[in-house]
Amino acid sequence: MAEDWHKVARRSELAEGEIASATVGDKQVAIYLIDGEVHATDNICTHAFACLSDGYLENGIIECPLHAGRFEVKTGKALGAPVNVDIAVYAVKLVGDDVLVKLG
Ligand code: FES
Repeated sequence: MAEDWHKVARRSELAEGEIASATVGDKQVAIYLIDGEVHATDNICTHAFACLSDGYLENGIIECPLHAGRFEVKTGKALGAPVNVDIAVYAVKLVGDDVLVKLG
């Protein structure tokens, strides 16, 4: 339903290798531009409380800034200790310059 989609960023303000963040209600969302495609995940690491948007993005992998846990951005898959719970991944669509994510 239309109300499930929330604007979190402008496409023109995203840069390769950088991570944007947005808060929608009680959710924090990280937004990534990887090879020209926009992706979104939950922004809070599944290991402890750290923002992935403060982490390091390389080759489609986000590394948590706190204990270096790593997740595959496109799938949310946790890639091994210390993280073993996948991160939530959100559907993304572009409407003009607006980046919308589907939550819930
Ligand atoms: Fe992210 Fe520990 S809080 S790896």
